[in-house]
Parts: sequence; structure tokens; C-alpha cells
Amino acid sequence: MAIDAIISIKDFRKEYKKTVAVNNLNLKIKRGSFFGFIGPNGAGKSTTVNFIAGLVKKDKGELRFDGQIITESSYKYKGRIGFVLEKPMYLEKLTGKEFLHFTGQMQKIDLPTVKQRTDELLAFMELIEKQDELIEKYSAGMKKKISLAAAMIHDPDILILDEPFEGIDPVLVNKIKENLKLMVKNGKTILLTSHVLEIVESLCTDIAIINKGNLIYEGTVNALHEKFSRENLNLEEIFIKLIAPEQGEDRLSWIRE
Ligand SMILES: Nc1ncnc2c1ncn2[C@@H]1O[C@H](COP(=O)(O)OP(=O)(O)O)[C@@H](O)[C@H]1O
Ligand SMILES: [Mg+2]
Repeated sequence: MAIDAIISIKDFRKEYKKTVAVNNLNLKIKRGSFFGFIGPNGAGKSTTVNFIAGLVKKDKGELRFDGQIITESSYKYKGRIGFVLEKPMYLEKLTGKEFLHFTGQMQKIDLPTVKQRTDELLAFMELIEKQDELIEKYSAGMKKKISLAAAMIHDPDILILDEPFEGIDPVLVNKIKENLKLMVKNGKTILLTSHVLEIVESLCTDIAIINKGNLIYEGTVNALHEKFSRENLNLEEIFIKLIAPEQGEDRLSWIRE
């Protein structure tokens, strides 16, 4: 049976000068899944996420949303998605509060709802004290939090989160994780990249592993565990097993064993 893909990518390829960032990637993100996209630094995760966001010009490939091919002029589907990019997007000359008001209105939500959700998001993200400061003065973690708030304000069907928890303290990360789980329970779809594998393991139903631009696993988290069931490995151990043969030396030459 064909899977019901809310987003699908076919033969996506992107080169930067001499680097092949993503090499003919095929990916199907199932509707209603919590999809983890993992891989070492430089594997091609952000390039792929930015392609979905319409920010990377492809060399080759096809992007579909709800089965419809997306062209450079048909990015209307973006209203149904919330993005947190690795380099978070915000308007630095606005205050946190103004930015959420602006984003909410841009997403065509009625004004009372925009105001109510802005206040709630600022409180949730522990940004009330900073709500009237320009975002350019925010710390890196606060910038992540305001871009996460902006990605959620229109209650999108799909959330695409590229390393969304960087610089955010663990108590708040936990609260955010619980809300993301509920969103998926309520039928939303989430694509999450993270290099923190415990986060992916505790949240995701489906997973894709990419290394040097090549997809090396795609399937459910359960199926991945079953594949390695005899060895009883956790996700981190499986990841190391799959990726490590490609990586460099284990020990620095001047550090004795
Ligand atoms: N704008 C860019 N210009 C040149 N090289 C880039 C650019 N963006 C990414 N790359 C290269 O493409 C590869 C994949 O990067 P990226 O998608 O950011 O990986 P990841 O998010 O998995 O860490 C890396 O080798 C990176 O150096
Ligand atoms: Mg990245």
C-alpha cells in the first residue's frame, strides 16, 4: 500500500561548488508522523529542510505537498507549515511581541486570537520580561524560542524543526516536547532534525538517517530497533554503528590510551 505522504521529496540533489550536500534523496513524510531526520554534522539535513522551506535552489528534484508538485511560484502551502530553521528567522528590528503580532497577522489569524496566542506563547517561552526588547538584543537561545513561537502561532498542520532546542534550557525543552507530542496525537505532522538522539528517540515514530548526502535508513523507529534487536541497541548505539565506519580516528595521536 502506498503511504499517505504529506511531504515527499524525489531525487533531490544539491551541490555547492565541490561539495555534494544532498545526493538524490528520496523521502516520504507520512501524514500524522513524528519524523526524525538525523545524521552527523554536514550530512545534508539543513539543506533538505531549507529545500522544503523553499530557500534552497535545487540542482535536481521534486517536492510534493499533499501529492501536489511544488514549484518556485507555488509556495502557498507555506501557510500550513511552521518552520524553525537552523539559522532562526526573525525580524531583528522588531520586539519579540511585535514579531509575534506581525507573524500571526501575516498568517491571517484574527486579531484577538493573535493577541491571545502572543501573550500565551511569550509566557510559555519565558520571554515576558523581554517582550518589548528588540530581537537583535536576544541571546541565541531566546532567538530560537521566539522563532519557535512564531512557527507555532498559526497552529500549522505541519511543523518543520531544524535543531529547535539549541540553547534552550532542559525544563522548557521538556514542556515543548510534551506539547509537540500532543500535536502529533491530534493529527499534526512534525519533521524534526536534531543531533541529540535521546530527543529523537523519545519523540519520533519514524526516522531517516542521512550521511554525506546519502540516505542510509528510512522507516519506523520500531523497525530500526527490530533490525538490531539481537544486539539490544539504543538509537545512539545504532547510529554509531551505522555511521562510525565512515568517520575519522577514534583518538588524538598525543593522548595516550
Ligand atoms: N550555503 C552553503 N555554501 C556552501 N556549502 C554549503 C552551504 N550550505 C551547506 N553547505 C555544505 O553542504 C553540506 C551539508 O550541509 P548541511 O545541510 O548544513 O548539513 P547538516 O544540517 O546535516 O549539518 C556540508 O558539507 C556543508 O558544508
Ligand atoms: Mg544542520
